[in-house]
Amino acid sequence: MQDACAPGIEQDARPTANAPEKRVFIKTFGCQMNVYDSERMADALGAAGFVETGAPEDADLVILNTCHIREKAAEKVFSELGRLRVLREARRQDGGGNLMIAVAGCVAQAEGEEIARRAAVDIIVGPQSYHRLPELIERRASTRGPVIETEFPAAEKFASLPAPKLRAAPSAFLTVQEGCDKFCTFCVVPYTRGAEYSRPVAQIIEEAKRLAERGVREITLLGQNVNAWAGEGPSGKTWTLPDLLAALSEVNGIARLRFTTSHPNDMSDALIAAHRDLPKLMPYLHLPFQSGSDRILKAMNRKHRMEDYLRIVHRLRDARPDLALSTDIIVGFPGETDADFEETMRMVERVHFAQAYSFKYSPRPGTPAADRAAQVPEDVKSERLARLQALLFAQQTAFNAAMVGRTLSVLWESRGRNEGQVVGRSPYLQPVYAEGDPALIGHIADVEIVAASQNSLRAVIKNLDVDAT
Ligand code: 5AD
Ligand code: SF4
Repeated sequence: MQDACAPGIEQDARPTANAPEKRVFIKTFGCQMNVYDSERMADALGAAGFVETGAPEDADLVILNTCHIREKAAEKVFSELGRLRVLREARRQDGGGNLMIAVAGCVAQAEGEEIARRAAVDIIVGPQSYHRLPELIERRASTRGPVIETEFPAAEKFASLPAPKLRAAPSAFLTVQEGCDKFCTFCVVPYTRGAEYSRPVAQIIEEAKRLAERGVREITLLGQNVNAWAGEGPSGKTWTLPDLLAALSEVNGIARLRFTTSHPNDMSDALIAAHRDLPKLMPYLHLPFQSGSDRILKAMNRKHRMEDYLRIVHRLRDARPDLALSTDIIVGFPGETDADFEETMRMVERVHFAQAYSFKYSPRPGTPAADRAAQVPEDVKSERLARLQALLFAQQTAFNAAMVGRTLSVLWESRGRNEGQVVGRSPYLQPVYAEGDPALIGHIADVEIVAASQNSLRAVIKNLDVDAT
């Protein structure tokens, strides 16, 4: 395995002096990891002379970085490809040259052949192969049909990507783990992202330092199963996530750490203790429970029971009493009865979530649950989802309302929509709006919360004496 000082990592991301500038437009669908991947694709292409553009009309290359997690997400890709085909045709007719179209991400991985058959695309590249994009673009020039690359060389990918480019935001994602070995029966991730892979410590610390040097104050560690991360540490010792968080706490300039997404079975004692012991670890945890019914959890192959989840929540709140919890919930999994669903509702009532993502079960081709006979009718799923979301939204609104009158520290991230307004995040990940100088962006300042809604907080900046680091 290459270390963090491998030549690939040191590569410069600027186009070479005399090469004509080519433009790439990347559209990202789905999760935060896709956001991270899209930035890294731009970095890889930057080294090959591409600059990013914000409009497909200006682009020589359009990449759709896709999501396959639910049916709707995948459908969007095909309708987007239809629009791009029209754009390409119009450009050809105007004599405006070629538009190259690439499909990347999880739909490319899962449905590469289908895309090649249905849509006139040039490149199909899976989530573990996008570091090869420059080479694939060259290969496309000398082949007739689309170039398809869907191997799983995760270690090679991280070792050969150029260093992350400067991006303005003070909060950044850093992928530390990819893939999943858990095989929940509803989920495509083990098939699209492959087996679990953890990046080595040195590579992660190096990337975190680079981000910090460029003004990043908050890092969110990403992984499909981030709390199962186990990386090769100094002198060959295996580190787990709490060791990594402790080491990242020492990186100069980094003031806040977060990680997502976690599986309940990998919430180790040490990771729970980290929420007590590491002041830079923010008091917010995304911990999916999926269903409140043990029968359904078993059918989902989740390998945890309702009781296990409640015990973990209890211990986490012992360690960090103000911890805000977020979760993922699926309704209408095959075989889910009214009684099972009521258990999900009871679970939400018992835990109280600050935020949550809830979905109707969507059968994904190739996953075990998709072929089960006892599929729940669509109208039942819709009715359950509406009830669940009403409860979750009420909890989120109550959580936000409880902040009014409190003092919170906010990391200012960008200008607001209105003139003179800045937007940041509280420790609990709530968006916070205030009147303030844009010079605050990148700094952490204390605010008093004066109003709350379901999705955000309004604040008055109390302490203009922002943090010095
Ligand atoms: N149907 C509905 N929701 C799903 N998720 C994953 N697969 C499916 C599916 N087939 C949800 C889970 C997961 C989140 C990222 O997406 O709740 O935690
Ligand atoms: Fe999918 Fe998460 Fe289950 Fe892995 S643990 S199979 S990523 S839902």
